[in-house]
Amino acid sequence: DDGNSRVLSVLLAAAGLAVLAICWYLSVVLGRGGVAGAKRYPPAVGTVFHQVYHLRRLHDYYTDLFREHMTFRLLSPGRGQIYTSDPAVVEHILKTNFSNYGKGESNYENTSDLFGDGIFAVDGDKWKQQRKIASYDFSTRALRDFSGGVFNKNAAKLAHIVSDNAAAKQPMDFQALLMKATMDSIFTIAFGLDLNTLSGEAADEGSRFAAAFDDASEFILLRFVNAFWKVSRFLNVGAEAALRHRIKVVDEFAYKHIRARADEMSAGKAHDAESKCDLLSRFIQATTSDSGEVDYKYLRDIIMNIVIAGKDTTAGALARFLYMMCKHPEVQEKISEEAREAADAGEAASIDDFSQSLTDEALNKMHYLHAALTETLRVYPSVPLVSPSIHNSTLQT
Ligand code: HEM
Ligand SMILES: *[C@@H]1O[C@H](CO)[C@@H](O)[C@H](O)[C@H]1NC(C)=O
Ligand SMILES: *[C@@H]1O[C@H](CO)[C@@H](O)[C@H](O)[C@H]1NC(C)=O
Ligand SMILES: *[C@@H]1O[C@H](CO)[C@@H](O)[C@H](O)[C@H]1NC(C)=O
Repeated sequence: DDGNSRVLSVLLAAAGLAVLAICWYLSVVLGRGGVAGAKRYPPAVGTVFHQVYHLRRLHDYYTDLFREHMTFRLLSPGRGQIYTSDPAVVEHILKTNFSNYGKGESNYENTSDLFGDGIFAVDGDKWKQQRKIASYDFSTRALRDFSGGVFNKNAAKLAHIVSDNAAAKQPMDFQALLMKATMDSIFTIAFGLDLNTLSGEAADEGSRFAAAFDDASEFILLRFVNAFWKVSRFLNVGAEAALRHRIKVVDEFAYKHIRARADEMSAGKAHDAESKCDLLSRFIQATTSDSGEVDYKYLRDIIMNIVIAGKDTTAGALARFLYMMCKHPEVQEKISEEAREAADAGEAASIDDFSQSLTDEALNKMHYLHAALTETLRVYPSVPLVSPSIHNSTLQT
């Protein structure tokens, strides 16, 4: 009844406060470096329990801590965690002493059912090979023109949908539309095929794949906070059962298209411009052995990781950008003026004419737009946190 539940909440609050107080005490005492002996550690300013307590505002919690310390520790019973926003430390990890750091085994375990041996999951030679091909490809004129054209085409398609909805005074879920638009774009760049989730039906094979893919990414993320996920996977229950089903849908679709493309290429049929530009064709060429053996699993992993990398990051950044534009109409006005001027398009230009006029040259003139996008990513980073771990061999030396 009412009285009991009030007592219960008071007790729960008291217990919570006690835990926090103990954590705080520990962090102050350990933060002085007392137990660390001669070694220097960054200050410990919290614990994993604080992370749970601040779960709904985790990045704000980190930001508050970063205001006090550029580098700090959060104490945890398992792996210790060091957080840094110090450019010198970031340079050490990502550049000067890069070989001391990796994705780590625990990350591999948590993600490999979906990521496989793709660039986000592996270190060493496999990482290097994929990184080399991807960074070479993305710098080529051919891929830049191809992917620019794909993004442009889907942006125009999105603009038509938005414009129709606006004319009909239909409310719309912008983030969902952007997720579809970036899925269609990245999928075409990766596989050389148009999924058309933007204007397709939810029952389409492509839309089913896209939905399964989004679900699977979310279930994989859940593993990072559910310490018992391996038990659920073993028993095939709950989120793990759902994840297994989604991965099956994703894989069947991916393998079907990879096989078709590999067969096409080995038969020497892939002569049209588009099929040469997509990443799948490039990676098939680069990973197929001299005897003509195709590693389908590795290709699936490589390509799916690029889809994972490019889709939600871009959709999230654009959703935030539009949100910011709604909050700052004066900036919105300046951007639309700049775009019209750079593209040399009149006030009354149609969506298709405007999209036609968006050449590289026109885009390069849009400095104000570039600044507004960059500022959006500063305030709402699509990837607010990356977590490299220290290799065992480094710890031993
Ligand atoms: C607003 C958009 C994007 C943001 C904010 C973003 C951010 C990032 C960040 C922070 C990393 C480093 C992750 C780490 O160190 O663990 C990364 C890696 C990567 N991104 Fe993006 N990204 C975006 C769009 C894209 C797109 C469109 C693609 C490709 C189509 C892409 C492909 C990749 C790949 C392949 C990696 C792995 C690189 C490696 O491990 O060497 N990203 N991205
Ligand atoms: C980091 O790299 C530099 C230059 O390669 C090297 O001299 C230094 O010993 C490395 N530090 C660690 C902790 O590995
Ligand atoms: C993987 O998931 C486990 C269990 O939820 C978690 O304890 C661990 O920290 C995760 N690994 C990484 C690298 O975050
Ligand atoms: C790294 O160290 C941990 C803990 O000592 C151990 O369980 C793991 O197998 C080691 N990994 C490698 C790749 O040596």
